[in-house]
Amino acid sequence: GLDISALMKTTGDTTLDVGFVNTASCQSAITYIDGDAGILRYRGYPIEQLAKESTFLETSYLLIYGELPSAAELEEFDQKVRRHTLLVEDMKQFFDGFHRDAHPMSVLASSVSALGTFYQDSLDPRDPESVEMSTIRLLAKLPTIASYAFRKSQGKSLLYPDNKYDLVENFLWMTFGQPTEEYEMDADLAKALDLLFILHADHEQNCSTSTVRLVGSSEANLFASISAGIQALSGPLHGGANSAVLQMLNDIHDSGGDVKEFVRKVKNKEDGVKLMGFGHRVYKNYDPRAAIVKETAHDILAKAGDNPLLDLALQLEQAALEDDYFVERKLYPNVDFYTGLIYESMGFPSSMFTALFAIGRLPGWIAQYREMINDPATKIGRPRQVYVGEPERQYVPTDRR
Ligand code: ACO
Repeated sequence: GLDISALMKTTGDTTLDVGFVNTASCQSAITYIDGDAGILRYRGYPIEQLAKESTFLETSYLLIYGELPSAAELEEFDQKVRRHTLLVEDMKQFFDGFHRDAHPMSVLASSVSALGTFYQDSLDPRDPESVEMSTIRLLAKLPTIASYAFRKSQGKSLLYPDNKYDLVENFLWMTFGQPTEEYEMDADLAKALDLLFILHADHEQNCSTSTVRLVGSSEANLFASISAGIQALSGPLHGGANSAVLQMLNDIHDSGGDVKEFVRKVKNKEDGVKLMGFGHRVYKNYDPRAAIVKETAHDILAKAGDNPLLDLALQLEQAALEDDYFVERKLYPNVDFYTGLIYESMGFPSSMFTALFAIGRLPGWIAQYREMINDPATKIGRPRQVYVGEPERQYVPTDRR
């Protein structure tokens, strides 16, 4: 499908590579992907092993500091993160000010930007202690902000974090708890969400991560760079795909559930319809994360009862796997094909799906920022262009145009 030669050409000293399909922007020791073989590793550890054995907090440590923590290191990291989950009270005024219909991704990006105005002491990217402080603050506070974005959209009062809970449990409590009732933590739900966060934790130089690195390459602080990354993630071709998949499944369901007809439309590119949750710039084989998510989807959805949308998703996947259009273009389900279904059954509205992706991706963004800042080879990012506009011409005053 992808015609690289049409997208890449060398013009004089400049190589035109639209969409950076074949241009590396940095060297990185964080995440390894072999898209043809369907392999993903964080710091050398296969994603399948981390999904089975690790936790989101431990995986965050691994990505950011490069090694799995000892038991004592993990305990210390956990305590540090728990200590910083609260937001300064003044931040509440932002939440009061946002419109009730505001998209959680806009609330997330704006609030992360705003955090930088409160923490003047941790803004210097050249000071390792500053970067460490803003690392912990962001890891601890993003779930709090995301739960507040959710509650605001529901017209509910905000709940303070309760630090008897770990990071993911605390997020569930702040999101779904009631001020007057004892919250019963659903251990299976917390575990499933923790797993989904692990699967999203890093994915080398994707659009949002490249954004974080590009913004950070000007020595902008971590809050500013992560805020930009959140905005990049919000688009439907990137993090927004998980809610677009659910929308697509609902549309197919509501119009009679004819999967074949939908696939026909996609193949004919009618109205620009795409099979959302399919295809990936790097994976030209099954996305290993999608394989893990598919299993989880079955377990979680079985608990919630029959879901006709899961049947539709399975039918769509089967239809695509048997169809030349998708086979020739190497289009397989990506991580987001099944996540929307899981998030919905957990009780999240689709507007929150991409915010969940952002919580998961945060440790990857932070790890990449820190690697970039500490790499002596880093230069400010500054792509070139191939100019195709007008040659020199003479200015004409308005009365003669
Ligand atoms: N449905 C139908 N056709 C598709 C799809 C799809 N989901 N994805 C790609 N194609 C087709 C293209 O139309 C193109 O066909 P052509 O050669 O006849 O023109 C061919 O496959 C190559 O696709 P490109 O768009 O050139 O591939 P690119 O690497 O630029 O795009 C992307 C990758 C953006 C992920 C694309 O596959 C897509 O839009 N998928 C749907 C959105 C989605 O699921 N995004 C999530 C990405 S993963 C993530 O962020 C976690």
